[in-house]
Amino acid sequence: MKKKIIIANWKANPITPKEAVLLAQRVERGVRSVRSGEVVIAPPFHFLASVGKIFKKTALGAQDAFWGEGPYTGEVSARQLKALGVKYVILGHSERRMYLGETDEMVNRKVKAVLAHGLGVILCIGERERAGNDIPADTGRELVSSLHGVPKRFAAKLAVAYEPVWAISTQPGSRPDTPDNAFRAMIYIRKILSGLYGRSTAEKIRILYGGSVNERNAASFICEGKMEGLLVGGTSLRPDEFIRIVKSV
Ligand code: PGA
Repeated sequence: MKKKIIIANWKANPITPKEAVLLAQRVERGVRSVRSGEVVIAPPFHFLASVGKIFKKTALGAQDAFWGEGPYTGEVSARQLKALGVKYVILGHSERRMYLGETDEMVNRKVKAVLAHGLGVILCIGERERAGNDIPADTGRELVSSLHGVPKRFAAKLAVAYEPVWAISTQPGSRPDTPDNAFRAMIYIRKILSGLYGRSTAEKIRILYGGSVNERNAASFICEGKMEGLLVGGTSLRPDEFIRIVKSV
């Protein structure tokens, strides 16, 4: 069985370096006794160095990475992240796709660059709206395009996070997905991955759920939804609840 992975996506939070360090310290202390699974915290770029110093049990994640290095004002390269001790990079988050115009092609270039530097990728996909039970074909297309030309040897470094946009806590009228739906999404994604890489390679890729995860629903996405990890946004800013999520999983 693959190790479960719980990732905290702090987004553009908190405001001050002091708050970031305090939050990281509380989580690190809280998860120290956890024996199985992996906990990752992805703070904003400018907190990576200070927060990274605190972690022993927790792994450091980043919320994005650029494919190139050198003359790219405002960007941060995969190699720079690696030099800071980053282990995982979240790519293609729906907020970047929606508010910053990130396309599948851009996400694909980033995925390749991050993998080429030996870091793990958490590739986010998920539909904006859902009518009915079926996962819309757009979600599958997003997955296939984002992985275009990514060789199968990287499978063990790759995780796909299914994050339906309508379930993300900050979206107006959002609601968490059900474990049952998440299970169907997991099967749908696994089938596409099997088509791309063959079954045994596809099995190495972890599939995670994200969207309004909290301490009440976290374990059900793992047990009933058969997800192999969680991507947690809003709740990851409440350290005690986040620690309870980790323990429940
Ligand atoms: P949420 O965010 O847990 O606040 O819904 C998840 C995400 O956007 O990654």
